[in-house]
This record gives sequence, structure tokens and C-alpha cells, in this order.
Amino acid sequence: MKIAFVGKGGSGKTTLSSLFIRHLAATESPVVAVDADINQHLGAALGMPEHEAAAMPAMGAHLPLIKDYLRGSNPRIVSADTMIKTTPPGEGSRLLRVREDNPVYEACARTVGLDDGDIRLMATGPFTESDLGVSCYHSKVGAVELCLNHLVDGADEYVVVDMTAGSDSFASGLFTRFDMTFLVAEPTRKGVSVYRQYKEYARDFGVALKVVGNKVQGQDDLDFLRAEVGDDLLVTVGHSDWVRAMEKGRPPRFELLEAENRMSLQALQDAADDSYAHRDWDRYTRQMVHFHLRNAESWGNAKTGADLAAQVDPEFVLGEPLAVARLG
Ligand SMILES: Nc1ncnc2c1ncn2[C@@H]1O[C@H](COP(=O)(O)OP(=O)(O)O)[C@@H](O)[C@H]1O
Ligand SMILES: [Mg+2]
Repeated sequence: MKIAFVGKGGSGKTTLSSLFIRHLAATESPVVAVDADINQHLGAALGMPEHEAAAMPAMGAHLPLIKDYLRGSNPRIVSADTMIKTTPPGEGSRLLRVREDNPVYEACARTVGLDDGDIRLMATGPFTESDLGVSCYHSKVGAVELCLNHLVDGADEYVVVDMTAGSDSFASGLFTRFDMTFLVAEPTRKGVSVYRQYKEYARDFGVALKVVGNKVQGQDDLDFLRAEVGDDLLVTVGHSDWVRAMEKGRPPRFELLEAENRMSLQALQDAADDSYAHRDWDRYTRQMVHFHLRNAESWGNAKTGADLAAQVDPEFVLGEPLAVARLG
């Protein structure tokens, strides 16, 4: 399943993503983690040595390779140059799986050893000042969208993306690519305003959105979040001494994480599992086509000089071969 952590800068997206990833590793689940946050800190939060984190390949820099691989022999996509971030897979495209080796992982992923097993980490690459404008930022995050749209994930496999919740996530279909989106919010007006904005965009696309209250210190904080986000509040996490120790570069073993926080992580997993159980591959595919047609019309056709609507394979449904057969 595919899971996103979003929220305002400093709310704790990266911290909670990293704890959730450690939790999944402790349950022996295969994990592909993706750092798509403006500040690329997920590797560090997972305890990656500094020199290794600094040497993480940038997905944005490997876009040509990613496009070429995913395009495969799809006759509707005549060249990698005409492939934009929303170009959907079709007959002949290559699909990615969580548990496999492939050229995309080889180029972009690194293994991170955690207390309870290894996970794969990929990163968009650091955003510079100019990336925060429109096009480059999107091409870096676009590599993530392409991969997610070509990724066939099972119920016991996890893709966890740490990403920024700005209007940037809404310029493409990226925000609709997840079985569960965890919006990390501190009990502040700013924290919940990001939630409201996200909810607004998500509404029309059936995005499963749950709020994770972070740095919640007592009843008043809890009451505030309850009042502001209602039933969307899934769990809250308090100040964690474990996290603080990790920040000092002395991470205790994961099993020593506070029991309450471990329970919160389990609740996140349960919510994501529940949501995946309702994954509708047909709808998932239709949404990617929707955003592709929108992008094609608004800038893609002009940029590539091609009619990108022709890239859509009307017969294709992303999913395991079995699931496809069932739908057919
Ligand atoms: N529950 C927590 N307990 C203790 N420190 C936390 C907690 N959540 C976040 N922090 C700290 O707050 C800071 C910002 O968190 P971070 O995860 O980097 O935010 P974001 O990725 O949303 O920008 C970090 O120094 C982090 O260690
Ligand atoms: Mg972060």
C-alpha cells in the first residue's frame, strides 16, 4: 500500500515517517521509503550516516532513466521525451514492485539498515531556491508520481512517502496516489489550517485523510484538535524522549520507543491496512488518466509538441495480473 505523510514544515512529518518506517520494519514488512520533503532529512531520521545521506542519488537527476525503463515497449509512448510526470502505464509499460530489484531502484534507492531489518530509501533530491518556483520542483516530485503510477503494491508491502503539503502537491495528481494520507498537525491554528486546505482539495477525489496530532501535551491540546478536525483525528503523539535522543545522534533501540507512541504507530498501520483493503485499481487508474489529460491540455502538449492524450491505453488497468483479470 501507499502512504503519505504531509503537513506544515516543522510539524513532524519526517520524524513520524521515520518512526512509522521503523515500526513497519519491526513487523518484518517490506518497505520502500521516499523522501519528497523540501528538507531532505528522512535518511538522517532513519539513522543513515551523514556521508551516506549526503550521497543519496536524486530521483530528479535520474528522470531519463526512470522514464525509459517504465516506458518499456509501450507503443503509445514513442519516446522518453514525450513522457511527462502523469503519463500513465499501458500495455507494454514496465511496472515496479516493492519486492524486486530493478534498474530504478538500482539507480535511485539505497538500503538502510534498521534495528529490525533493512528498508529501501529513495529521495527526490534537495530542492533549491529556484525549485520552489514551478517547473523544476515538479520534475523532482514528478519522478515520484511516475513511480507510484507504475507501482503494483500488495497488502503487506509498504511505500511510505514523506512529502510537503503545499499547493504544489495539488498541481498534479500526486496527492491522490495514496491509500492513506497522514496529515501531521501540531495543535496550533497553522497546523489545522494546512489540514483544512488539504481536506478541501482531497474531497473531490476520495482521498483517505487522517490527522496525526503531534507534540500534543495534555488535555487542552487534545481538546483543541478534536474541536478543529473532529473525527479525522486518528491519534496523537506527545513529546518523545526517544526522538530527542535520536536527534542527539544517540538513537536507543527502537523497541525502547515509548509504549504509547508504539500504540499510535500501530494505529497508523491499522488505518492504512483498512484503507488498502478498499483499494479500487480501476478507480486508481482512472484518476491517473484524469490528471494526465489535465496536464496534457494545460502544458504537456505544448511542451512536448505531441498529443499526449494519445498515450492513454483505454484498456489498461493497473494491478496484479489476477486483479486485472477479475475486472475484465
Ligand atoms: N513527537 C516528537 N517528540 C520530540 N521531538 C519531535 C517530535 N516530533 C517532531 N520533533 C522534532 O521537531 C523537529 C521538526 O520535526 P520534523 O520531523 O523534521 O518536521 P517536518 O519534517 O514536518 O519539517 C525535529 O527537530 C524533530 O526531532
Ligand atoms: Mg521534514
